[in-house]
Amino acid sequence: MRARYLQLSRRGFIASAVAATALPPAMVAPLSAAESGPSLGAIAASKGLLFGASFSTAELDQPYGPDYARIYRDDARVLTAELELKMLILRPAADTLDFSGADRLMAFARENGQGVRGHTLIWNDNNPDWINRLGPGEVEYLLETHIETVMERYPDIRSWDVVNEPIGPWDQLPGNLRKGAFLTALGESYIARSFEVARRVDPTAELVLNEAQTESADENGQTFRDSFLALVRRLKDRGAPIDTIGLQCHIDTKRPYDFPRFAAFLAEIADMGYRLAITELDVNDRALSSDIKARDREVAAIYRDFLGAVLPIDAIKTLTLWQMADHTSWIYYDDVRENPGRKRRPRPLPYDSKFQKKPAWFAIAEALEAMPARLK
Ligand code: XIL
Repeated sequence: MRARYLQLSRRGFIASAVAATALPPAMVAPLSAAESGPSLGAIAASKGLLFGASFSTAELDQPYGPDYARIYRDDARVLTAELELKMLILRPAADTLDFSGADRLMAFARENGQGVRGHTLIWNDNNPDWINRLGPGEVEYLLETHIETVMERYPDIRSWDVVNEPIGPWDQLPGNLRKGAFLTALGESYIARSFEVARRVDPTAELVLNEAQTESADENGQTFRDSFLALVRRLKDRGAPIDTIGLQCHIDTKRPYDFPRFAAFLAEIADMGYRLAITELDVNDRALSSDIKARDREVAAIYRDFLGAVLPIDAIKTLTLWQMADHTSWIYYDDVRENPGRKRRPRPLPYDSKFQKKPAWFAIAEALEAMPARLK
């Protein structure tokens, strides 16, 4: 928590009240001939899949802001707020609401005709410290008013991560539920409760339960899959109004993977009647080759194998990456903070730090071309 908080401030996330303005066309770098084919968003849309990525308004203020904006305009049909809608940002103090970053993100999306995914309403992490000092009744009130206030302010957001990362085996609590203010105050019912409030506020928005670490073919992945599936079954029995199960899919090359096995897990959830979303896909390349060309090919192969295994599942209607350019990835920011002098830097995404397409971009494009069109 502390490390993440520091990262937020190190990135210079200053919630500015200035609304984003349209960039003059001259500031947008022209596409080279090789790059002018259909965008990832367009290929995905032709198959009935919504494609996009997480987006940080702070990146627009960097010298490379115009290029950052360009790749999102080109490829992303939906933006996930990487930081702007988290409680830590929206409620820096108990009596303060700061919507400036979220408003700016909404303005950018509106100008470019993009949708926005609301990430995230309730999470037992990335919260301001002051919520840990509230009593149970106050936490319950916060949960309700927070969901109401944020959803009512952004009716254009048609898909919400209502609860993020409910599982945390390291906390060793019943059901492997993740510790935090909401669980402490309300027990497991904080999850169903959040969805009930969200449904009441917006009866037609897509309500998503989002989880991490379910992908790997090791004990950790198995524990996450078993605990999460058991939780989803309990929520279904209780009638919690969940439309979609989101799986983050931060792939870490230090772990073993068996993507067909992960696809079988997704199919099991789909069989329960839920839609699915891949919500935060990226590839941490830390265990791959040092040679950049070789590493880029290896990362591309992982995107190809992963998407080849999961995209045939018709229930997956949304695919979002966690950022699109290497140097704007949380993996990159963490690496710079943890290993300041290092030459090797992470290359987890489809664009490099010059906003050029990498082999991963083409692997994603090919996987989208190859996937079956959605039935409905
Ligand atoms: C991360 C952001 O990328 C970081 O910049 C921030 O410091 C911490 O949060 N799972 C999630 C995301 O659901 O919200 C996290 O985003 C990455 C892991």
